[in-house]
Amino acid sequence: MSKKRALTGIRASGNLHIGNYLAAIKEGLKLQAEHDCLFFIADMHSLTTNKDPKLIREQGLDVAAGWIACGLDINQHLLYRQSDLPMVAEFAWYLSCATGMGFLQKAHSYKDSVAKDKEVSHGVFAYPVLMAADITMYDADIVPVGKDQKQHVEMARDMAGSINALYGEGTLKLPEVAVRENVMTIPGLDGRKMSKSYGNEIALFSSEKGLKQQVMSITTDSTPLEEPKELDGSLLGDLFKLFGSDEQYGELRKKLAAGGYGWGHAKQDLLEVIVAELGPARKLYLEIREDEAELERTLERGKEKALAIAVPVLNRLRNAVGFRSLSYS
Ligand code: TRP
Repeated sequence: MSKKRALTGIRASGNLHIGNYLAAIKEGLKLQAEHDCLFFIADMHSLTTNKDPKLIREQGLDVAAGWIACGLDINQHLLYRQSDLPMVAEFAWYLSCATGMGFLQKAHSYKDSVAKDKEVSHGVFAYPVLMAADITMYDADIVPVGKDQKQHVEMARDMAGSINALYGEGTLKLPEVAVRENVMTIPGLDGRKMSKSYGNEIALFSSEKGLKQQVMSITTDSTPLEEPKELDGSLLGDLFKLFGSDEQYGELRKKLAAGGYGWGHAKQDLLEVIVAELGPARKLYLEIREDEAELERTLERGKEKALAIAVPVLNRLRNAVGFRSLSYS
């Protein structure tokens, strides 16, 4: 039996942090064992918020290099840039013509923008349609996403259903959403959810010095050095658990409970377990990111393979609406 096709888009926004790594990258990469995976840089979606052309390009490459460094197998799976297959915008048009305004007004992302009194672009309004095109143009079976994107994938399924109701069952494949429910919220340096918007993140690929500074700034209580300390339930403990083994955690808990071991020492221990897990990926990241020509070649190969999947689906839909097939080469 052939493997199911898993597809997910990654928005390039700012530096990757360990929250992205634990909640999205590590989980996404686990799918490689049992699925044919399509991972792409959602740079067309980034245009809704990022109007800096240099950043659009650079952050796309940062994200691509990050995924490869963390273990994306580019020989077995696909990594491509959304904007390299611009026919997705054509595909989105067919979906748009089968989708009501009232339906799109229900999107949380759109409602949030309106509630914040932001100037809402048509891109923000049409965001779920482009996302539905991303998914259905590749006949994706499952779409792994974080909770915040669940509604968008459900909307994609509905849009595919509307196309099928108009043009016949089987015109588009209905995708399933796979929400990463089991991933806990990753706490940041101050204990709130790790997020770029709070400025409390631990960068995924910072230098060891930078990482040390960040780890040393983790909020702890001011129990004096000599006194016993409780690791369970502390922010430092929560972060340690994400990287250290149960055994290492148990050891640290004992040392702190005995007294004479400070939070500063514990932070040093945390630094060590983080470096042990991420050190090799960081080294790889720097090498991969440096060689932009090679990275571009990788994305070019991804594009060719992605085209081979997308063009037949696009022509299927073109034919369904009454247009002729095109070669798109
Ligand atoms: N909107 C998603 C996010 O912000 C990124 C994305 C774009 C995506 N297209 C997609 C995710 C298609 C899954 C499938 O995270």
